[in-house]
This record gives sequence, C-alpha cells and structure tokens, in this order.
Amino acid sequence: MAEKTYDKKLHIQTTGVREWGKREKAYNRYEPTPYAALEKLFTKYKLSQVDHVVDYGSGRGRVAFFIHHHFNIPVTGVEANDRTLDEAMKNKQSYRRKRQHLKAPISFEFALAEQYEIDDLATCFYFFNPFSVQIFKQVIRNIHQSVKRNERTVELILYYPLPEFKEYLKMHTDFEMIQRIPTPGDHGKYGKFVIYRLQQATYEQSV
Ligand SMILES: C[S@@+](CC[C@H](N)C(=O)[O-])C[C@H]1O[C@@H](n2cnc3c(N)ncnc32)[C@H](O)[C@@H]1O
Repeated sequence: MAEKTYDKKLHIQTTGVREWGKREKAYNRYEPTPYAALEKLFTKYKLSQVDHVVDYGSGRGRVAFFIHHHFNIPVTGVEANDRTLDEAMKNKQSYRRKRQHLKAPISFEFALAEQYEIDDLATCFYFFNPFSVQIFKQVIRNIHQSVKRNERTVELILYYPLPEFKEYLKMHTDFEMIQRIPTPGDHGKYGKFVIYRLQQATYEQSV
C-alpha cells in the first residue's frame, strides 16, 4: 500500500522529511520507516501482549501507530524535535478518535533519547538510524541500567543498521543478533532489519 494511502487508513500524516539545522550533527533527520518495510518486519517478527515498545527518535509517530494498530500494546515514542513531536501529538488525536476501542496506551515524550528515563517494563526498543553511534552507546547503557533495575529479556530492532552500531553491540555488549529480515525494494545492503536480544540471565556481564 502506498505511503499516503496507509497514512489515511491510520488517520495520520507521517510522510516527508525534516532536517535538523547544521549544528545538530549527531541527530539525524526525520524520515519515516517505509510501510512496506514495517509490513515485512511484522510478518517475520511477532510482538506479544506483554510487550511494550519504545521508538527512539519516533518522529511523526508512524512506527508507534503501526504497532499500536496491529498489536494493541503500549508504545512510547521519544522525540527531540519539538515541531516533529507536535505533529506526532496531532496524529495521536486523529488516530485516537477512530481507535478508542484499543485500550493500550500510546504516548510521545519530548526528550533527548540519551537522557530519556526508560520505563522498566519496556521490552522492545526500535531504532531507525536516529542519531550517532555515541548517542546509541549511551542509550544502550541506559537500557542495561533498566534491565538491572527490573530483570527481563529485552530486544532491539534496528532498521537500516550501520556497521558501527552492529560492531558496538557485538564487541561490547551481550546482545545477540537473533534475526535478519531483508526489506522490499532496492535499499542496498543496509535495507534490512536486524533484531538483537539480551536474555534475562546474561545482562550481568554486559557494560
Ligand atoms: C530517521 S527518523 C525515524 C522516525 C521513526 N522512528 C520512523 O522510523 O518512522 C529519526 C528521528 O530521530 C529524531 N532524533 C534525532 N536525534 C534524537 C535524539 N537525540 N533524541 C530523540 N530523537 C532524536 C529525529 O528528529 C527524527 O525524527
């Protein structure tokens, strides 16, 4: 389904891009995950009713709405651009008007991902290249801290995973790559999802 048609179905507007000014080198621009990629992801990767997803750099909220619509589970978007966050909040109003029957919460937080205080019930963390690997490392440390406070298995979904992100997870953490899901279209070697898992018992050895 085309991007705008899918947006219409969810009563949201998430197409387009938004650049940061030149000063924000570590923060990447807004650009949504293609719907076709999300459809492919969730034919191969399943979320369950006990999951709670955090989308780091949630933009206008496409991933959050898509997951909420399909799984009716709690979803939190974290976004640092105030204009983009406002658009996500407007989307939430129009999405919610038609989805009052879905009881799971959906929320958007105005925060820097690296400073965001993780809900210790969150189980799945989504990243579509939102920021530099330095910020990613801090976010992963925060996830480890959260897992120490409340022991649980957590998973990461990386869309368009760059080598330095994979390298960091492989060399410096106990996250294990468990799945690779190629996406439709011609997006080159990075056009895929990779899923990582931190199993409950292994977190203690991690940084
Ligand atoms: C490539 S977009 C991904 C949007 C959405 N996750 C999706 O897949 O449709 C990356 C988003 O991350 C946001 N971002 C960049 N740096 C951030 C930071 N440090 N903290 C929170 N959000 C950030 C950008 O403003 C942008 O909206």
